[in-house]
Amino acid sequence: MPLAYNQRTCYCGDVGVERIGQTVLLVGWVHSRRDLGGMIFIDLRDREGLVQLKFDPDINPSAHGVAHKVRSEYCLAVRGQVGPRPDGLVNPNLKTGAIEVQVSEIDVLSESETPIFALADEIDTNEETRLEYRFLDLRRRPVQQALITRHRIAKTIRDYFDEHGFIEIETPFLTKSTPEGARDYLVPSRIYPGHFYALPQSPQLFKQLLMMSGFDRYVQIVRCFRDEDLRADRQPEFTQLDMEMSFVQPPDVLNIIEGCLARLMKVILGVEVPTPFPRMTYDEAVRDYGIDRPDTRYDLKIKDVTALGKKTTFGVFTEAVAKGGVVRCIRVPGGAAMTRKESDALTEDMKGIGAGGLPLVKVAEEGGKVVLQTGIAKFFTAETSGELLTATSAQPGDSVFFAAGPASDVSRHLAWLRETVAKRRHLIPAGKWNFLWVVEFPMFDFHPEDGRYYAVHHPFTTPRDEDLPYLESDPGRCKAKAYDIVLNGVEIGGGSIRIHRAEVQQAVFRILNMSPEEQELKFGFLLKALRYGPPPHGGIALGLDRIVMLLTGTASIRDVLAFPKTARAMCLLTQAPSPVTPEQLNELGIQVAK
Ligand code: AMO
Repeated sequence: MPLAYNQRTCYCGDVGVERIGQTVLLVGWVHSRRDLGGMIFIDLRDREGLVQLKFDPDINPSAHGVAHKVRSEYCLAVRGQVGPRPDGLVNPNLKTGAIEVQVSEIDVLSESETPIFALADEIDTNEETRLEYRFLDLRRRPVQQALITRHRIAKTIRDYFDEHGFIEIETPFLTKSTPEGARDYLVPSRIYPGHFYALPQSPQLFKQLLMMSGFDRYVQIVRCFRDEDLRADRQPEFTQLDMEMSFVQPPDVLNIIEGCLARLMKVILGVEVPTPFPRMTYDEAVRDYGIDRPDTRYDLKIKDVTALGKKTTFGVFTEAVAKGGVVRCIRVPGGAAMTRKESDALTEDMKGIGAGGLPLVKVAEEGGKVVLQTGIAKFFTAETSGELLTATSAQPGDSVFFAAGPASDVSRHLAWLRETVAKRRHLIPAGKWNFLWVVEFPMFDFHPEDGRYYAVHHPFTTPRDEDLPYLESDPGRCKAKAYDIVLNGVEIGGGSIRIHRAEVQQAVFRILNMSPEEQELKFGFLLKALRYGPPPHGGIALGLDRIVMLLTGTASIRDVLAFPKTARAMCLLTQAPSPVTPEQLNELGIQVAK
């Protein structure tokens, strides 16, 4: 009689001491097999963990005979009796570590070829191979754990929003372009040759329309598609926790999201994070950290020393100031201990991101006085040295790194330096979870190369009430009711209060160089809806994959997706994208340019 594998007693990883003396039926995969010249031990694995099986030739020769032939990754069903492990062989790290199962019956449900790589927790197999054999890679515990945590995160989010009166509504995937700053993935229409759907970069306009329809509170855990350059925290298809609320101002949205994130931290990690989260304006973030998503777990703030730089005799500073640029610096506590090799490496890497170099001074004590040494110290007088020490609060043993030039370049270079120095000098405290809201983003960004404005968030974001009068006369000065949520220096979400008046929406489209015809063509449905009593509304979307990455401590977004794409947007498992047949192209009325 074959074993009734549909009637397993419990998961392998759940067989504890409370089952000692019981007969159990287990199913799973052969994780490892040890033949001790007589006795055979097999670790049987399922998603909950491992259990040790024992095959004794004297007690059960036929089961032992089968165990002799099984190999790694065979799929088995077994029946046996749970007993205690002999003293000294107990593994306190496993739930099943104090027991073993004396097997009396075994069925090989299926055999396996030898896996192409070991299915251990830590392996050094290259990622291409792992992704090509993802079905095997997904048998590894860390990958399974990440996906199980992802499920728990999504479930916690759904429960939270349900408790707060949000309704989950699905929005279309075959739709029209929604601009979020990336290229669209297009899907050709067979019925209308030459016409295309766009896969949504986000459900932005649909969720706004749902507010106009009176749903009041919408949420969706939803796939979004963006054809953009990929990085460690970006995928061409990724998941958002997307939400929208009617009759709200920014603090209402922020409060709901804070509650959700605090709940996640508690449920998933057992960590209490205090609310409300700190809030910082975009201008403060860029001034103090050089970036709109600062990692506030460590200090290393940027100080502006333009006035002081002008007074030095250092040509790089004086020339930068003469051209309207700035001089800024970062004090690195204990930085004077940095070796020459370390600071040379920093300088080279800084040049790699486009800086001219990395001027520095070290702070020391000499004859009872605090002085500047090495690097560009010689360009400072006693007076300017004193001013620098005051401005930076630098102490003996510290170093100060400088950047000079146009403000935006200096911000970018020092933001990079700040993050790099913090990592290389181990200045990031472990176990800290610093949430931060960055608020009041600019409405528009002017691009000199094509002489026009672009929306910083997206074109549906409303300006602050006090900036409305300048919207068309001075777009550059307008700040938006927009907010980003940052966790430990990673942007995990962004949103805004939306425009709910057609004439303001049209003004923003005009600022973005959109003719009335183009407005009508692309967003006619939105402008039409705005004529029928739209409520004030706003919302946000969080990057679910990034949240899972941070909460599971994984370094790559690919590790928290079951079937991810490579940095070149390939699915190595299925080999997508792939060519299609001439018949398929014909049907779609498409010719591929050679
Ligand atoms: P935004 O474009 O800022 O806003 O996206 C929201 C969040 O989604 C995540 N994200 C990504 N994650 C992985 N891979 C990507 N390619 C990727 N792109 C974005 C980020 C980001 O913060 N409709 C607006 C939201 C709103 O205004 O309500 C939007 O999509 O964590």
